[in-house]
Amino acid sequence: MSGTFKLYVGSALVMLMAALVFGTVAAFVFLFPALGAYLPFEQLRPMHVSAALFWIITGATAGVMHYKKEVFGEAREPFLQRAFMVLWMATTASVFVFYAFRKFGGREYWEFPPLLGVPILLAWLLLLVSYLRAWVRRTTPAPLYVWMWTTGLLFFLFTFIEQNLYQVPWFRDYYLRELTVQWKSNGAMVGAWNQMIYGTALFLMVRISGDEGIARGRKVFVFWFLGLSNLMFNWGHHIYNVPTAGWIRHVAYGISMAEWIFLINIIRGFRSKLDEHRKFEHLLTYRFLIASELWIFLNLFLALLMSVPAINRYTHGTHITVAHAMGTTIGINTMILLASLSNMLRVDELPATRKRWIGHGRTLALASLLVFWCALIGAGMLKGYRDVALGMTDFQQMMRPVLTVLHVFAFAGLGVLAGLGVVAWNYLGALRKLNQ
Ligand code: HEM
Repeated sequence: MSGTFKLYVGSALVMLMAALVFGTVAAFVFLFPALGAYLPFEQLRPMHVSAALFWIITGATAGVMHYKKEVFGEAREPFLQRAFMVLWMATTASVFVFYAFRKFGGREYWEFPPLLGVPILLAWLLLLVSYLRAWVRRTTPAPLYVWMWTTGLLFFLFTFIEQNLYQVPWFRDYYLRELTVQWKSNGAMVGAWNQMIYGTALFLMVRISGDEGIARGRKVFVFWFLGLSNLMFNWGHHIYNVPTAGWIRHVAYGISMAEWIFLINIIRGFRSKLDEHRKFEHLLTYRFLIASELWIFLNLFLALLMSVPAINRYTHGTHITVAHAMGTTIGINTMILLASLSNMLRVDELPATRKRWIGHGRTLALASLLVFWCALIGAGMLKGYRDVALGMTDFQQMMRPVLTVLHVFAFAGLGVLAGLGVVAWNYLGALRKLNQ
């Protein structure tokens, strides 16, 4: 592992820690606005969300770059890849400098000045060229995870460009057009990073079990096809506020959920056939991977409820949407990324005390996440009921009991911060000690 790559992995872990700290402070500032005299919620929210997104994208690309070296048999780290890492780290770090000086200007989730999109785009092109060069030179047929990595990398580029189309006046001049393109591209971008992350999950399952069959055959190909359809069409359920035909939304929901059902099925197949010895050799990696399975189940259940029109009438635009966003990004994406980094940093070879700390951190984070997630759903249901069923118009009155439930969310957030913080800290220690 080169020095630049180590720095890159370190920067992903720092982004995770930043997301945890900004998120927790934002939650308490929302409840006690006096705490936000210097750093108000409006500033903390974009800091938290951008750090969360950069953690996911940096972690996902670290997995692709590291594992493809083995799959494609690369002897050296390509120069373009190194240039990508340097540019990406410099740009993502400078985003927080702009936020610190209250310089905003982008759109939802990417609220930094749009000019910073230029180095991001340039960096991604460097990564793509270096990846595609290795892809065309490969000597063996690509297993499914390679197809997924390639799809994710390509579609991130398309969706990032699409997300920035609001720079063109034709898109910006008509509110509904801009809104539709924004939400569509945000949904598709999630599909793009899911391709990279689920591809890495598949790669890990193959490595842990030693069974290459997991990533080949008809079933997994259907999984890839569903993922691809999902990232192209899931925008249907991201545009609720835009007038559109109901069937578009339902088809989009159906595809998204089918993708999860396939992923659960693949993980269960892997689990049932796994040799005990191999499992114990990769215990922490295995446990993070399996944690994501539970969260796919929970999010599937929530998504099913949210897609029932009679329920959606109450839930839309409430904290249930936030529960859906954080349930998936923490419960599924973050768990798979921690499994990926665990394997990459050889965490299973660390001294027993360190492994015990990571295990305790994982348990605390998962237990707190469950309370955190249920509290958000509770707050969303309460708000929806008071707003739609009781027809309350006084916002303060409507929010009073909701705020009580949000206290539970904020304190459970402290547990998520402590648990994942311990894991990230120990991973940084493992990264520092890694020799190659
Ligand atoms: C790996 C950890 C985390 C990730 C990946 C993550 C991700 C996200 C995402 C994607 C959103 C945007 C949701 C939306 O727009 O609907 C969000 C919002 C938020 N998150 Fe997190 N989050 C993490 C940890 C935390 C923690 C520990 C807390 C502490 C309580 C927290 C508090 C918040 C708050 C207060 C919001 C704003 C909600 C709103 O505006 O209504 N997050 N987070």
